[in-house]
Amino acid sequence: MTPNKLTVAVLGAGTMGAGIALVAARARHRTILRDLDDAAVQRGLDTVESFLRRSASLGKLSQEQVDAALANLSGTTDLQDVAPADVVIEAVFEDLELKRSLFGELDDVVSQDTLFHTNTSTLSITSIAAGSRHPERVVGTHYCNPPQLMKLVEVAEGRHTASQATKRSLEFLAGVGKTTVITKDRPGFILNRFLIPWENNCMRALEAGLGTVESIDRAVLGALRHPMGPFQLLDVVGLDVHKAVSMRLYEQLREPRFAPPPLVDRMIAAGDLGRKTGHGFYTYESTKSFGA
Ligand SMILES: NC(=O)c1ccc[n+]([C@@H]2O[C@H](COP(=O)([O-])OP(=O)(O)OC[C@H]3O[C@@H](n4cnc5c(N)ncnc54)[C@H](O)[C@@H]3O)[C@@H](O)[C@H]2O)c1
Repeated sequence: MTPNKLTVAVLGAGTMGAGIALVAARARHRTILRDLDDAAVQRGLDTVESFLRRSASLGKLSQEQVDAALANLSGTTDLQDVAPADVVIEAVFEDLELKRSLFGELDDVVSQDTLFHTNTSTLSITSIAAGSRHPERVVGTHYCNPPQLMKLVEVAEGRHTASQATKRSLEFLAGVGKTTVITKDRPGFILNRFLIPWENNCMRALEAGLGTVESIDRAVLGALRHPMGPFQLLDVVGLDVHKAVSMRLYEQLREPRFAPPPLVDRMIAAGDLGRKTGHGFYTYESTKSFGA
């Protein structure tokens, strides 16, 4: 696959879809961002544009690079518009039936060579792929949040994924500047298998009074050299999203370490979801997503 000359369709213009579209457009692919209504599409396009403009103001991109990325990007609500896609990346809600039926619909829209990537965090790649008449083209590509800043993508094959599809996917990901790790089609892949219990343990430590939000974050930053403390990270991800991912892993793996502690429910009930609501473990002046 020749880098920089592909058509990439991203389905879902939310947190992950907008970031992934940005990654594709910045790598000079023709990028089509699709959501269900005009407002959602526009929000996604605005997120991409504001991030690119901020990158330019910080000197990380030239004006020419920003203009080229924006010229590569378009939005639509019509699934037929993704027909020319070489790669379709789905980043819709974490719902098995939705993802399966979308891939089934796409079979009739795109060419037989088109790769289908799913960004699922917790669902089985094999089960999602079964929605397509060509499960051999379906590859799990799990981007880290925020995709425009984090380099790593976990790659997982479904039971019927063709090795050629994986090879093309790895080339595509390298071409958009990602580093990859290959993992198995198992709940949580590599990262969420230990990240989710670790975050839950940090909240348990907080509830047990072992430290404050600030001191636990400082301890992690100082000792483990993570780019963000656990509570900073939870605020970026959102407590509602953290709970959904934790519960899905808990239901599948039946290990108590995946169960979110009661603090998560209390924060959700209070509307303290993190950056997106302006308040989580920390308070924020702007509710814009991280990095935008
Ligand atoms: N948020 C994270 O930290 C994170 C990290 C890695 C992976 N993921 C996974 O990425 C996927 C998307 O998560 P998100 O956090 O971006 O969700 P989100 O709720 O922010 O966005 C989902 C978007 O999909 C749209 N949508 C729903 N059905 C659609 C369809 N048929 N066609 C096009 N758009 C449709 C919705 O309108 C919404 O805008 C999920 O599978 C999630 O598990 C999320």
